[in-house]
Amino acid sequence: LERPEHTVSLNSPARWHPPARSPASHKGNHGHLLILGGSRGKGGAPALAAMAAQRMGSGLITCAVPRSVQPQVASLCPEAMTFAMDEESDGGILPEHRGPCKQLGFNPSVVAVGPGLGTGGGAAELIAQLMITPLPMVMDADALNLLALQPGLLRAHRAPELVLTPHPGEFSRLCGHRVEEIQADRVTIARNFARSWRVWLVLKGAGTVIASPDNRVWINPTGNHGLATGGSGDLLTGCIAGLMAQGWSLQDATLAGVWMHGRAAELSAAEQGGAAGMQSRDLLPYLRRLRNQL
Ligand code: APR
Ligand code: MG
Repeated sequence: LERPEHTVSLNSPARWHPPARSPASHKGNHGHLLILGGSRGKGGAPALAAMAAQRMGSGLITCAVPRSVQPQVASLCPEAMTFAMDEESDGGILPEHRGPCKQLGFNPSVVAVGPGLGTGGGAAELIAQLMITPLPMVMDADALNLLALQPGLLRAHRAPELVLTPHPGEFSRLCGHRVEEIQADRVTIARNFARSWRVWLVLKGAGTVIASPDNRVWINPTGNHGLATGGSGDLLTGCIAGLMAQGWSLQDATLAGVWMHGRAAELSAAEQGGAAGMQSRDLLPYLRRLRNQL
């Protein structure tokens, strides 16, 4: 096995090139991120993704969620706009037949789909529609579980920029290897998958592996076990998508998003009383600080 080419680090040759923010900019200059997710009992997930994207500097964020969780998402994250999607009887999203974005009345810069989405029939239909929608996209959580059930969709994807952020269990369903096999050879399996399917793959877990469609691999050195708690992954989705929405390159958004997410956990542990017991919300102020140091 070859050694990975890069280790993501601010001090390494992997340098990021944030687009400049003008002192006179307005919210319309910093992108409009659409977050599609949420279902009954899982309204926190899209709200956490939205909060992370805000701390990355996104201009506008709309969370499109099932009608019954819209009030919850709006009150958890008042700075985001919310859009009520028609709802299935199980509390999941029911997409419009005209397409998942037409009814929104704006063109998103980026779509982040999956946090709390659920895996009902409506969500499956939504994923099928999104895969033929030519928008940059970050797919996480149940979006990945649904993709694993319809692998042809990934082959035909039309997203010009596509990032998948599975944890090892989600990746197992996507790639067909057992979790133990994946964990024994994370770099090779991630690299082969990204190249074969023409996607950016973020294989999460301690030492997150990032693999590009053109066969490059990075391993992230930041993070700690405080992240091993519900909601951490939703924040990561928001970090990456929030940077992409502002015009960061896909590579820089993915690498910097993963790096800052882990680094925020280290800072929170150091300053707020240790890693165990961390709530994913604790990372938010640190994400903001790190974003402004780049
Ligand atoms: N060290 C470093 N990083 C870690 C560690 C660790 N020990 N443990 C977890 N992390 C990081 C991962 O790299 C990842 O970025 O925390 C994040 C965890 O993401 P997820 O596994 O997606 O967890 P979660 O936020 O609970 O996901 C929310 O989506 O994946 C589904 O089933 C999941 O319903 C859950 C939802
Ligand atoms: Mg997750």
